[in-house]
Amino acid sequence: MRIYDIIKKKRDGLSLSTEEINYFISNYTKGNIPDYQVSALLMAIFINKMNERETFDLTKAMVDSGDTFDLSSIRGIKVDKHSTGGVGDTTTLILGPMIAAAGVPFVKMSGRGLGHTGGTLDKLESIKGFKVELTNEEFSKIANDVNLAICSQTGNITPADKKLYALRDVTATVDNLSLIAASIMSKKLAIKSDAIILDVKVGLGAFMKSLKDATKLAEEMVRIGSSYGRETVAVVTNMDEPLGRTIGNALEVEEAINTLNGKGPDDLMEVCLTLGSKLLVLAKKASDESNGREILLGTIQSGSALEKFKQMVGLQGGDVSYVEDTSLLPKAKYIIEVKSEKKGFVKSLNAEQIGECALILGAGRDTKETKLDLAVGIVLNKKVDDEVGKGETLAYIHANNLEKGNEIKERLLNIYNIGEKNPELKTLIYREIH
Ligand code: URA
Ligand code: CA
Repeated sequence: MRIYDIIKKKRDGLSLSTEEINYFISNYTKGNIPDYQVSALLMAIFINKMNERETFDLTKAMVDSGDTFDLSSIRGIKVDKHSTGGVGDTTTLILGPMIAAAGVPFVKMSGRGLGHTGGTLDKLESIKGFKVELTNEEFSKIANDVNLAICSQTGNITPADKKLYALRDVTATVDNLSLIAASIMSKKLAIKSDAIILDVKVGLGAFMKSLKDATKLAEEMVRIGSSYGRETVAVVTNMDEPLGRTIGNALEVEEAINTLNGKGPDDLMEVCLTLGSKLLVLAKKASDESNGREILLGTIQSGSALEKFKQMVGLQGGDVSYVEDTSLLPKAKYIIEVKSEKKGFVKSLNAEQIGECALILGAGRDTKETKLDLAVGIVLNKKVDDEVGKGETLAYIHANNLEKGNEIKERLLNIYNIGEKNPELKTLIYREIH
């Protein structure tokens, strides 16, 4: 078999056999196929797409590219969560502690930012000392001690995804249904949790722009999970505007801590409660979703979710005083106020463009080697549907470079789409797929 023939076949719009997909993944993982040939194949897949059988085969080949992680040494029904990628989406840092405080082990291997979207690992690193790399033993021990552990893909879990993820990020081949499904599901299947919840984002700031495509992605991922015998549920949620009010690593950690203190933005809290209540039902901790919501709200009111977060931070080497006093988190030198030039209502706030602004400030990566500036980002004072007066503050830019900050100010003024009338009612949670 030759990789050249596989590229040509996909270029010509044909479907690849199971053997060809296995050959591609196993040889790329071993370093036998160069990045330039895989880049060409990824672009051919992106343009000509894969069918359901190919997507399943790709996922399986990626799971089989490395080790799997048996969680049987962790007590209880273990649950896992993954988002397809959003802007300002700090859900994991709230959902994880709430679930753990409800008595269910929440164990997750997270990712770094991809394109204009943020990543949980980058965010957690704004807490001094926090270690995202854990051995399997450390991971299991922390999960057993506090029901909560969040780390990077340890050791040799889905090495094919590690390489492909980084290559897709810089070759404009991220937003393809099959590539996203295989990337996410291979990681979820390699780590043997009992239940998986998938937050499939749709809208201006998501990789899937239409409800039809997002639904198809959700269905495909649920089908793959189920065929591996894993309880998998997907929820399609809105990503037209950023979630919550902050975008940027340390800023989002602060927002998560505020939310755990009961002072979170409504949309962020609603996504956490929707996903969390379904997880508690899957884990047999709640009789139904409304019971699940009550339990989750109880973990905020009692402070037990915040306590879980603190315990996890401590056990993963982080400085817990950062959780008690968020003013210790990295802070930007300049805070630039963006004031509205007209009055009216915010009609739209393109999340992808805002994600790109945060990236330019230094919160995201341009190349594989970019070192992030964890302090920078954007705080939204006005969101879609809000009324704005002339001269009122729309947003605050947290920058370490004044020139870049001022450039982003101009961009944000254009991104804020302000009209005379209220926009149509926005939907946050679209649908659920079992
Ligand atoms: N998240 C992932 O882990 N992989 C993707 O391809 C997209 C989002
Ligand atoms: Ca946010």
